[in-house]
Amino acid sequence: MEREMMLEVRDLDIRFELRGKVLHAVREVSMELYRGEVLAVVGESGSGKSVFTKSFMGLLDKNGYVSGGSICYYGGEEERIMELTAIRKEKDWRRIRGREIAMIMQDPMTSLNPLKTIGSQIMEAVLLHQNVGRMEAIKRTIQYLKDVGIQEPEKRFEQYPHEFSGGMRQRVVIAIAIACNPKILICDEPTTALDVTIQAQILNLLKELRQKYQLSVILITHDLGVVANIADRVAVMYAGDIVEIGTSEEIFYDPRHPYTWALLSSLPQAGQKGSELFSIPGTPKSLYAEIEGDAFAPRNPRALNIDFIRRPPYFDVSPTHKAKTWLLDPRAPKVSLPPIVEKIRKGGLF
Ligand SMILES: Nc1ncnc2c1ncn2[C@@H]1O[C@H](COP(=O)(O)OP(=O)(O)OP(=O)(O)O)[C@@H](O)[C@H]1O
Ligand SMILES: [Mg+2]
Repeated sequence: MEREMMLEVRDLDIRFELRGKVLHAVREVSMELYRGEVLAVVGESGSGKSVFTKSFMGLLDKNGYVSGGSICYYGGEEERIMELTAIRKEKDWRRIRGREIAMIMQDPMTSLNPLKTIGSQIMEAVLLHQNVGRMEAIKRTIQYLKDVGIQEPEKRFEQYPHEFSGGMRQRVVIAIAIACNPKILICDEPTTALDVTIQAQILNLLKELRQKYQLSVILITHDLGVVANIADRVAVMYAGDIVEIGTSEEIFYDPRHPYTWALLSSLPQAGQKGSELFSIPGTPKSLYAEIEGDAFAPRNPRALNIDFIRRPPYFDVSPTHKAKTWLLDPRAPKVSLPPIVEKIRKGGLF
């Protein structure tokens, strides 16, 4: 089946200027997003997940800028292709934000107005983005409340954010985002503030909504464990780069990058009874100095000499799976896999 491209990022570079120094936060990253898919972006804190996706909405902090590459958006009106890196004016970004690409943040309280009923906040989005009158807007708002799994929507319509639990507030935020009719929904750690059962419910809700509304979802998380059941594809970020990308199945059962191996090994599910949870030794490289070679090499017990000298290109594993590691070069020596990855390959765990 031919997949319809929604977003195409090519060699995107993002830098920040801070006290006279330059931090290279996103380093020549390329990625595609297709209609109706859930793409998970995973990686440690500071790997660039938020910065990367904020650049799709013109939401970089003032000291940050796109220093190279392109972001093509294919979903615009009349199927016009838009180059998002060329947008300069706030007014033009407002045409994209919410109505083309919407974002849900970790803390729902920051995106809700405590002084307005939740019904009026969803309705505002409907009136702004959909060409309907008041009565129809109320009807649609109630439908959105139902869609995000809120019981007694007519009653809840009149209530204020403080009358909702954390999980319910996040559902309201999702309803507001959906009411803007976006084609892409970026969820930046939408469940980290919630407990595990609620987390799973919100993720399942996202899965349902993408089906109903034909949304493309980018799901950002530092926890590879939570995406196994929801993501169609997974992009693994390290030090401002996507070092491996593939279908969920490929990333979980046939991972190729040593950093992906380390992430999998550190999953709680991977912990053996009675043994310590594995944590990745060392810290990521500073992004202030240009990185030579594979950024993960100093933390990789299986690193080759060339890893410290030359940055690896992508090597294709399958038409849908590629990784930036010299281990995939035909000349590379065979290395043994970490025990947990070996175990996952043989089945089980997910
Ligand atoms: N305004 C800024 N000025 C300078 N550096 C910044 C700024 N915003 C982000 N950075 C840096 O860019 C890099 C990527 O940050 P980003 O917030 O995207 O990480 P992340 O992967 O989202 O992490 P987390 O999981 O903690 O949210 C980090 O090194 C961060 O310190
Ligand atoms: Mg972040």
